[in-house]
Amino acid sequence: MLTFLALASVVLLGIVPEQSQAIVIYTGWERHGLVGSDIRLSCSFFSWRWTSEDVTFSWTYRPDGSRDSISIFHYTSGVAYVDNKGPFRDRLEFVGNPGRRDGSILLKNLDFNDNGTFTCDAKNPPDIVGRPSSVRLLVFEKVPIQAGVITGAIIGVVLGLLVLIVVIYYLMRFLVARRVFSLSVSKHGKKKKEGSQQRQGPVPPAEPSKIKV
Ligand SMILES: *[C@@H]1O[C@H](CO)[C@@H](O)[C@H](O)[C@H]1NC(C)=O
Repeated sequence: MLTFLALASVVLLGIVPEQSQAIVIYTGWERHGLVGSDIRLSCSFFSWRWTSEDVTFSWTYRPDGSRDSISIFHYTSGVAYVDNKGPFRDRLEFVGNPGRRDGSILLKNLDFNDNGTFTCDAKNPPDIVGRPSSVRLLVFEKVPIQAGVITGAIIGVVLGLLVLIVVIYYLMRFLVARRVFSLSVSKHGKKKKEGSQQRQGPVPPAEPSKIKV
């Protein structure tokens, strides 16, 4: 009986890990890039099992308006292979970390014609069944209109605030200057009045002398 249990557990332990379970693969949904820039397309997966040493990632690319996908990248047995055909043969770099279930790639120097769908497939043996996940890449020549509008609005607000600050500054200066001016004017006026009184002062005694003469 004990030997049967032992045998059964050995058989079970031997069999269960060999049963393959589905894995779930994730990429983004859509990525936007500017012509000439680099973009990272990430790919990861969920699996109930430990990450296998034989984990594999593969990426394919289907240009917009094309029916066929081409293989652009493959990672297997610890080695990354960039396909030596296709538009990304010298613009693709593996930036993932397979031990952390990360199969991300970096596309460099984006071209206006790179629009298309990138599909990532991953396997974590013995879990090899999973639906590949796709991400759409849109390459823009300039800043997209929405971003442009937002940028414009921000610049507008900042400029408006600057103008307001300058206006307030000059208004304050004007007010302060006017107050100082009016003060100096009134002081000056008093002095003038005093001066005129002083000037007028000596005159009256002269008049009587004139009268005397
Ligand atoms: C790529 O997609 C963007 C956004 O839809 C579009 O503006 C651009 O014209 C497309 N490029 C090509 C070559 O079709």
